[in-house]
Amino acid sequence: MCGIVGYIGDKNCVPILIEGLKRLEYRGYDSAGVGIINSTECKVLKTKGKVSELEKLVFAEQIDSGLGIGHTRWATHGEPSTINAHPHLNKDKTLFLIHNGIIENYLSLKKGLEKEGYEFISETDTEVLAHLIDHYLKLKNSLFQAVRYALNEVEGTYGICVIYNGEKDKIVAARKGSPLVLGIGNNENFVASDVNALIAHTKQVVYLEDGEIAEIYKDHFTTKTIADETIIKEIFEVEVGVDEITKGGYPHFMLKEIMDQPDSIFNSMRGRLVYDEGISKLGGLQGFEERIINSKRILITACGTSWHAGLVGEYMLEQYAGIPVEVEYASEFRYRHPIITKDDTVIFISQSGETADTLAAMKEAKKKGALCLGICNVVGSSIARESDAGVYIHAGPEIGVASTKAFTAQISVLALITLLLARRRNLSLPEGQEIINEMRLLTKKVEMILKQNENIEKIAGQYMNCKNFLYLGRGYNFPVALEGALKLKEISYIHAEGYPAAEMKHGPIALIDDDMPVVFIATKDSVYDKVISNIQEVRARKGRILAIVNEGDEQIENMVDHVIKVPKTHNMLTPILTVIPLQLIAYHIAVKKGLNVDQPRNLAKSVTVE
Ligand code: AGP
Ligand code: GLU
Repeated sequence: MCGIVGYIGDKNCVPILIEGLKRLEYRGYDSAGVGIINSTECKVLKTKGKVSELEKLVFAEQIDSGLGIGHTRWATHGEPSTINAHPHLNKDKTLFLIHNGIIENYLSLKKGLEKEGYEFISETDTEVLAHLIDHYLKLKNSLFQAVRYALNEVEGTYGICVIYNGEKDKIVAARKGSPLVLGIGNNENFVASDVNALIAHTKQVVYLEDGEIAEIYKDHFTTKTIADETIIKEIFEVEVGVDEITKGGYPHFMLKEIMDQPDSIFNSMRGRLVYDEGISKLGGLQGFEERIINSKRILITACGTSWHAGLVGEYMLEQYAGIPVEVEYASEFRYRHPIITKDDTVIFISQSGETADTLAAMKEAKKKGALCLGICNVVGSSIARESDAGVYIHAGPEIGVASTKAFTAQISVLALITLLLARRRNLSLPEGQEIINEMRLLTKKVEMILKQNENIEKIAGQYMNCKNFLYLGRGYNFPVALEGALKLKEISYIHAEGYPAAEMKHGPIALIDDDMPVVFIATKDSVYDKVISNIQEVRARKGRILAIVNEGDEQIENMVDHVIKVPKTHNMLTPILTVIPLQLIAYHIAVKKGLNVDQPRNLAKSVTVE
């Protein structure tokens, strides 16, 4: 959670920090602040609200400095307010600290510091660290050593940046559990929570690992472990371009990302389909294929939308690869002492690759000897780096907090893994080739759905004032129902629930009246007739029905209030198509309600706290 950016160099850091924070605002946006040190002054400017508010404040001051840090917050301890916003300061206002994560033992540290006479002005856990570093600074006379000693006392997670008036030639940055990446420039260096804040300035990056502390000077950097051992870090070149992290003419990132899907789905499969053998080729799994194929069981662990993709994966892998699969929320998995053996393969799905629950679940599974595979979007992210092997989904940066293109690309990658395992087990060549043919047609079919955007917007207008929604689907479309409901509640704040269609009669049917819209995902598959019966049950109780159906389906069209048609595809690929109208419905309802679709209240793009 939260965005961190720091600069040291000859330029004025102010526009660099503000621009960087804007690029990171999707990570947290309840308050923001900068800390700047130049030859004459140490200045902190903070405000509740968005980076645009901070921008007004900062530019009104006309500060010029080559050293500064900035933060956009997602509150964990203390309400979003100017006082609680970062940076936090020492008493002399000479040391500034920004933090992403949670200091779990902050209360006991605070008590100790209070005894020494330190006073606290915010409700945050972070402020403790500013004073603790100050305490050690007085003893050690070195910012680096003070940070190191302070962090040795900290329990919890952090990505931090610290600057100090007594050592104006450096930023000290450290991480444990929250991501930090250094950007290496020409006579200037950067640090940020992710590469989006850096790529306008440099493509050369260094990923900090847990337990590492960096001293970043304008012309070089050094890295040590928290135990004070020097480490040499590799410099990587990032491939993301600036155009990939801008709205590209769309009013919102979310719409751009929905519209990106023909490309993102294509990119997730590019170079990975081998038609002649009816199989997929996944470089990231090379050397591990035998072990996966011989697994007694596959576990899939993730959160939110990625968990929904995992459910689709379960259906695919069991049906075509014939391997038993279980899907579990990462947050539950990590705490319930799961039975995992070295014969298991555990797949961790995460767009950001930084979700704290998923990362912790991976550590648990690793400890127990299971093979850990990552399915991530963000290249170089923690989950991607810490897994034994994995597959990038290559969807490109996803900035809108509501995940859209990552979901369809995750399913596409799960289909590739299914194809690989199924062909190596018992799927025939023609069946494998049929899947490949259908995968290749997805781009065109997605485009056909996106062309209906205007019509979908009109339909959204008719439902925008409803207070509750029910989303129903069966088989491969059950996870789509869950995902459709999640999208709606995340960005429009309308209560929505997803259910397997047949479960409706076991409870939710009691909710249905002429005020209750029900969204059916009812494509022509093996459970089509059963879903029709469920539609009749809703009709009999006067519920309003919007149905996602296949082209040419007049039967359902004649029964319901509205239909959105999607092309037919291979049954395991269906969710890639059926989810798109639901993304658009949620988007248009939220826009019509005047809500901030890219940064919905209380949410953050990457949840790096428990
Ligand atoms: C999706 O719209 C959500 N914002 C959220 O549920 C998300 O999918 C979840 O936090 C997992 O994130 P990850 O894929 O980055 O791990
Ligand atoms: N725990 C800190 C706070 O509440 C940091 C939150 C963040 O990561 O933005 O201020």
